Amino acid sequence: GIDLHSRITYPNGESVKKLPDALIIGVKKCGTRALLEFLRIHPDVRAAGSEVHFFDKFYHKGFEWYRDKMPSTTEGQITMEKTPSYWVTRSAPKRVYAMNPSVKLLAVVRDPVTRAISDYTQSASKRPSLPRFEDLALVNSTVGWGGVRWSVVDASWGPVRLGVYARPLRRWLRRFPRGRLLLINGERLVSEPAKEMARVQDFLGLKRVITEKHFYFNSTKGFPCLLKPDSKSTPHCLGKTKGRSHPHIDPVAIERLRDFYRPFNERFYQLSGINFGWP
Ligand code: A3P
Repeated sequence: GIDLHSRITYPNGESVKKLPDALIIGVKKCGTRALLEFLRIHPDVRAAGSEVHFFDKFYHKGFEWYRDKMPSTTEGQITMEKTPSYWVTRSAPKRVYAMNPSVKLLAVVRDPVTRAISDYTQSASKRPSLPRFEDLALVNSTVGWGGVRWSVVDASWGPVRLGVYARPLRRWLRRFPRGRLLLINGERLVSEPAKEMARVQDFLGLKRVITEKHFYFNSTKGFPCLLKPDSKSTPHCLGKTKGRSHPHIDPVAIERLRDFYRPFNERFYQLSGINFGWP
């Protein structure tokens, strides 16, 4: 086997592959790709391009396999990876801890109602015959006097369930101290990317290299896109699969979902010590 915690030497600027120093563990459809792409601007960050799924799917392949999936780094660079399903993988906290108990964890969260719609929109883009969002998120429809419909939220439907952030957070905090997990506000990652990225860089112990001058708001896309002021590369946005337009959802269904999430959101605010102020 390999000594996971052995010191690595970098003779003459040699580059080596390391296990990750930091992980983006979730949450699916909250802006995890944006966070990773923004971080990759930083010269001291090297990250695996695609999701590695080591702690959920490929753990049996071992740490040597995992390390080989990482990009090469030179001295002073940190190694990262993002796989959003780690957030809800029950065995992940223990496994991540076994790799490195002082690893830094990042998770992006956003209003669970928009997250659910985003998740649904992604599925519908692959399966156009998918029923309406309202009919999947809510059950027990009784169309009657006053049109009372969709009385109960289907908490077992994936897109709904994944927005209950409190329980997975508790699992991660059983294994890691609160200070080792940075929660990133997904709404602010869109409205104030540079400010949110300042927090991220501080947390990772990086110099604040990513700043306002790296972002511009692309009004066609409706999202911040990237500029690389010091290079000749052209401005670019995330791909077409990020920032899709969402279908119109019946406001009654939205209200039901808000009521459903309210107590879970409260518990999440308590556990995390942050009031995200979701409606
Ligand atoms: P939508 O496509 O539903 O709008 P993830 O990368 O975790 O799958 O999250 C995708 C979501 O990231 C998008 O969901 C979008 O809302 C959000 N996002 C945040 N910043 C973005 C950016 N700069 N460009 C595109 N999408 C961004």
